[in-house]
Amino acid sequence: MTAVVYIPRDASALSLGAERVARAVASEASARGLEVRIVRTGSRGLMWLEPLVEVATPRGRQAYGPVQVQDVAGLFDAGFLEGQVHRLAHGPVEHIEWLSSQQRLTFGRLGVVDPVSVTDYAAHDGYRGLQAALAMPPAQIVQAVIDSGLRGRGGAAFPTGIKWKTVLDQSAAQKYVTCNADEGDSGTFADRMLMEGDPFALIEGMTIAGIAVGATRGYIYLRVEYPHAYRVLNEAIATAYASHYLGADIMGSGRRFELEVRLGAGAYICGEETSMLESLEGRRGEVRVRPPLPAIKGLFGQPTVVNNVISLASVPTILAKGAEYYASFGSGKSRGTMPLQLAGNVKRGGLVERAFGLTLRELVYDYGGGTASGRPVRAVQVGGPLGAYLPASQLETPVDYEALSGIGAMLGHGGIVVFDDTIDMAGMARYAMQFCAIESCGKCTPCRIGSTRGVELIDRVIAGIDRERNLGLIDELCDTMLHGSLCGLGGMTHFPVRSALRHFPEDFRRS
Ligand SMILES: Cc1cc2nc3c(=O)[nH]c(=O)nc-3n(C[C@H](O)[C@H](O)[C@H](O)COP(=O)(O)O)c2cc1C
Ligand code: SF4
Repeated sequence: MTAVVYIPRDASALSLGAERVARAVASEASARGLEVRIVRTGSRGLMWLEPLVEVATPRGRQAYGPVQVQDVAGLFDAGFLEGQVHRLAHGPVEHIEWLSSQQRLTFGRLGVVDPVSVTDYAAHDGYRGLQAALAMPPAQIVQAVIDSGLRGRGGAAFPTGIKWKTVLDQSAAQKYVTCNADEGDSGTFADRMLMEGDPFALIEGMTIAGIAVGATRGYIYLRVEYPHAYRVLNEAIATAYASHYLGADIMGSGRRFELEVRLGAGAYICGEETSMLESLEGRRGEVRVRPPLPAIKGLFGQPTVVNNVISLASVPTILAKGAEYYASFGSGKSRGTMPLQLAGNVKRGGLVERAFGLTLRELVYDYGGGTASGRPVRAVQVGGPLGAYLPASQLETPVDYEALSGIGAMLGHGGIVVFDDTIDMAGMARYAMQFCAIESCGKCTPCRIGSTRGVELIDRVIAGIDRERNLGLIDELCDTMLHGSLCGLGGMTHFPVRSALRHFPEDFRRS
């Protein structure tokens, strides 16, 4: 009998040796005359166990990890192909509490399916959402997305259905659906994982968006630093065309949707939606003045949906299972689930998809296990490089949009970066200003000049030069950048700077 072994081909697993492990399993099996079929999957997001190898058994898939090449012969000796015990064994993968306690509405197929097999996708509830959407009038699809309460997962948390309605209400010969896959936030990897591990979910979500708003063409704007996602997406798109899930006659409906991937320009600002559109049109990524909104005048001047990977990949579940089902998860105005990404100095990093409402403490301690260094947690940065630094005393805050904004923070794309007590928060505040200076597109003065002046001011404070006056100037500068910047890069830099000053003032007074 042929044994089936699952080994991820996700970039994080590859960086930890998954390719070498896959080769070692194949050659060990052949040396022992055993028949083994290796299925390359995405990652389940338990980064602390990668490379996580799974074996199909009558008792379900058994997990072993983290597996290195030198462990492979021992795994065969122990009988891992039959799911036998070994020091790296974790039992049935779906019983690992880190995973079983999650609510995987969007990431449920990750690590389970072969990412480029459309048959596998369809066998795991894939394309049910599109099938349902094709039987509905466009306005009803849009209403379902509004009713689900889905808000943009790229950072701004704008209601996805309302954005779609604006595009639907425009009359134009050509409309577009664009997917923002630039994923520039530090400590984030949910978009990458999804595109590498379940690309059809994104393709299906974009197709539903096209049918809903009347767009026949879509583009995925993918950050150039994601070569694995680029390959997987292109392979999946070619398969979707060949199986009539894309093209001129989607699922025999006579409806058309064309899709292609465009590589990004390697700048953080290209993730800002209007900059992304400039870049997609072949120009330098520079922010456009709004209005008009992209939903009215976007790509090539036409009505355009711009959504993040996770927003779009959440849509198939909403259409397949109903808006009410999706909306039944979450808290307050934060409906559904959020893929939270645990990174930095944390023992068990990875992807945690849970309904909104769990606390930061649950994330950092129950899932993360505290710091990797074993030292006390001092700060957690939530929401990417422009997110606030929160002290350990604020870890009881629930993860939802309103609760975080209530403490002067924001959820952004769901990145949670943990720091221990050796971190110098004045240095981190300086880094935020420096990041803004380096990444500024240069279009407006508060950001272009203000960020450079900000670095200088923080340097003076750290050096103890005229400290009180310079602290006052930093405060004024933050206000100017907040109110005078054209986009969120300059407009949000005050979050890390002010939160560091507010919660860790002692770090600014060391000299
Ligand atoms: C400086 C800056 C960088 C951004 N980078 C990204 C990004 O990498 N990915 C993303 O989806 N949204 C990013 N955004 C947010 C986008 O402008 C936009 O709100 C989002 O793509 C809309 O999709 P959503 O409504 O599905 O979140 C960025 C915004 C700013 C101001
Ligand atoms: S805030 Fe910065 S990045 Fe945004 S438009 Fe102004 S200069 Fe460009």
